[in-house]
Amino acid sequence: MPGTRNPAPAANLARTVVFAAFIAVLGIFPGLYIGGAAVPIVLQNMGPLLAGSILGARRGGAAVLLFVALVALGLPLLSGGRGGIAPFAGPSGGFVLGWIASAVVVGLIVQRAMPRPGLVTLLVANVAGVAVDYLVGIPYWGAFTGDIGSAAVQSLVFLPGDAVKLVAVSLVAVAVHRAVPTLSAPR
Ligand code: BTN
Repeated sequence: MPGTRNPAPAANLARTVVFAAFIAVLGIFPGLYIGGAAVPIVLQNMGPLLAGSILGARRGGAAVLLFVALVALGLPLLSGGRGGIAPFAGPSGGFVLGWIASAVVVGLIVQRAMPRPGLVTLLVANVAGVAVDYLVGIPYWGAFTGDIGSAAVQSLVFLPGDAVKLVAVSLVAVAVHRAVPTLSAPR
């Protein structure tokens, strides 16, 4: 693709690991359980959106997959210092698994506008990324409570925060792509 180059495999790997670490760092912010809901409001879901927005589908998805694998292996990287299999065997587990699909979908949309995706593309991509996470997370939550309708209604509380987060991620990603166009290499 004109204007882009394929970074060395080591650079690709480093970026993937850095983004997995970034998602982990976002877990420092504690989750907010509004009204005793089983799934918290978190900042951590910005990480997968940013990974897909900046690294593209493959490397963004790989970064989130690495993060999820480390959590499953027991590292306390989710908000509140949670890790292991338990978070996946609970109501919020589907959202965490959905973060992988979320990064991939964001990346697939952003890649179409490489090497300089604009704000509209980033916003559309991140709305799709959030929607995909909800599509995985809400039925998963509903499977635990036996009431998918209630899970969907309770998820409405996430919308204002997620709207702010996806706009912030989109603005950051546009700036990063402008500053470092070589990040846009699709593989
Ligand atoms: C966990 O820490 O166990 C996962 C939390 C998942 C929270 C989801 S991500 C999408 C939605 N937006 C939020 O702020 N919270 C939920």
